[in-house]
Amino acid sequence: MIKVGIVGAGFIGPAHIEAIRRLGVAEVIAIAAHTQELAEKKAKELNIPHAYSNVDDLLNNPDIQVVHNCTPNNVHAEINKKIIRAGKHVFSEKPLCMTLDEARELSDLVKDSDLVHGVSFVYRKFSMVQQSAAMVADGDIGRVFLVHGGYFQDWMMLETDYNWRVEPEHGGKSRAFADIGSHWCDTVQYTTGKKITRVFADLSIVWSERKAIHGNAATFSTENNAEATYDLKSVKTEDFGFIMVMFEDGSRGSFTVSQVSAGRKNQLLIVINGSKMSLSWDQETPQQLWLGHRDKPNQLLTDDPSLLKKNIAASANYPGGHIEGWPDAFKNMMQEYYSYIASGKRIQDEKPGFATFFDGANVMAIIDAVIESNERNCWVDVQEI
Ligand SMILES: NC(=O)c1ccc[n+]([C@@H]2O[C@H](COP(=O)([O-])OP(=O)(O)OC[C@H]3O[C@@H](n4cnc5c(N)ncnc54)[C@H](O)[C@@H]3O)[C@@H](O)[C@H]2O)c1
Repeated sequence: MIKVGIVGAGFIGPAHIEAIRRLGVAEVIAIAAHTQELAEKKAKELNIPHAYSNVDDLLNNPDIQVVHNCTPNNVHAEINKKIIRAGKHVFSEKPLCMTLDEARELSDLVKDSDLVHGVSFVYRKFSMVQQSAAMVADGDIGRVFLVHGGYFQDWMMLETDYNWRVEPEHGGKSRAFADIGSHWCDTVQYTTGKKITRVFADLSIVWSERKAIHGNAATFSTENNAEATYDLKSVKTEDFGFIMVMFEDGSRGSFTVSQVSAGRKNQLLIVINGSKMSLSWDQETPQQLWLGHRDKPNQLLTDDPSLLKKNIAASANYPGGHIEGWPDAFKNMMQEYYSYIASGKRIQDEKPGFATFFDGANVMAIIDAVIESNERNCWVDVQEI
């Protein structure tokens, strides 16, 4: 069994643990949080033998071979560097880090290394996203004319919604775009096989001040506490934004990101219009792929393995008609990552299907270009890393 340590015990850390446990090839033996008390509480709840209050102690455990970084954005770069320097395989939450300089440093660190590095861009591992990517690659949809869609949530809609993601020093200079727009960009680049090379962004803030409840609100918390007292916090990061993009082959697209769209929880929507047909996929109904035609009735393909392309069928974990979603895509992502480690392959020799630090760094360059475009009100080139 491959021995694993998890850093971060909030919303996403336990999701990593659940996915790893479904594989049967890896064992989570340690968890770290920002306090010993929280680490021990989570270790007890999740039946994990070792609990630490910091990443250094976890890295000193010689049995651990792989470390998952599930902490808030502001410590991603520092913790990722520590994991690499400790000689352990690393799987980082997105965004990879907070700045382009950090992205370059992390890419340089792993460039010639044998360590397997992954970034948690999970949406590319849904069956129907993989089916879409295969359909584009096989020429089924023809020449890509345009790509559009968005990522919509409502958990920051109210003035009293608050989380570390709002604060640039903890979440980064961009919020909605870095948090969920980054997912749209990775998924679209994966599906179309084309890099985004230029962007034009218009970002907006709905609440210029938010009321933050005393103490830390949990991620995606919708608790309404009439007794609570609030601090007034000024807001510098966007609640929504419109982004136009240009791809490397000159094809174009646009999308909207929003964390203030009532009723939408995690609507990641991708539409590709090609010269033969259209594809449309929505993460809130993830088992369906809409195929749009000009000269015959439209179709709704579901993720029954027998209906998918042969090389994609295994990404549907159960027979058709059994509901699969985000936890199953997470399992697919972990399965690919751990199989890659077990195979002894090197990322520089064979590009894996999961996102690597190079993909994470590329998305950081898109985030950087989006921020600059919004500030300068013009098209900005995405820098190569
Ligand atoms: N891939 C996805 O779909 C997805 C979904 C949700 C969140 N995320 C990402 O996951 C990350 C964490 O988000 P979350 O919602 O779980 O946050 P959270 O606030 O719920 O949890 C963060 C955890 O990190 C721990 N932590 C903070 N600083 C630490 C440190 N220095 N050392 C050790 N532990 C530390 C905290 O104790 C807490 O347990 C974010 O970067 C976010 O973008 C990704």
